[in-house]
Amino acid sequence: MTGKVLVAYGTTNGSTARIAEAIADVLRKDGLTADALPARTVTGVSSYDAVVVGGGLYAGRWHKDARRFVRQHGRALAERPLWLFSSGPLDPSASERDIPPVPGVKKVMARLDAREHVTFGGCLEEGAKGWVAGMILRSKKGGDFRDFTAIEMWAGRVATDVRGGE
Ligand SMILES: Cc1cc2nc3c(=O)[nH]c(=O)nc-3n(C[C@H](O)[C@H](O)[C@H](O)COP(=O)(O)O)c2cc1C
Repeated sequence: MTGKVLVAYGTTNGSTARIAEAIADVLRKDGLTADALPARTVTGVSSYDAVVVGGGLYAGRWHKDARRFVRQHGRALAERPLWLFSSGPLDPSASERDIPPVPGVKKVMARLDAREHVTFGGCLEEGAKGWVAGMILRSKKGGDFRDFTAIEMWAGRVATDVRGGE
């Protein structure tokens, strides 16, 4: 395989985009070609050998752009090695234990035969959109809980798998 990987993401406040870029960086360092793109800008996946789809979690659901993406490109995704990730928890829980996918993402995993799903910690900082975000921030429950060491380790495993498990 030529090893071209798409990392498509759904984000409202940008923190999932940064995770997707970190994953794509690791894939490139491992010798693959990788594009990290907002899911809503991707028109097709046929030029990619493997795909990673990630989304921020909002009220127990994957970001709508990630949901729409897997719906629109379901058939092509099911034919390719596929990995999913979510980013959400605004506490250290995701670094401490495996957090299972939310029910909607679990269904996507089964439907598209995804190889793996992981939940990474999320990030909510000043300037985030929406009044609920403002409330969370005012009650001092925000912060950056993204664990880039864990993100890079996971991406390294994806790279190995894409290259054929050497
Ligand atoms: C309105 C709102 C609802 C949220 N709901 C959840 C949730 O259900 N589960 C969760 O783990 N995190 C939740 N979060 C935290 C976000 O998932 C976290 O901030 C994530 O990093 C957002 O990604 P983004 O910056 O890419 O949009 C919520 C945040 C906001 C502002």
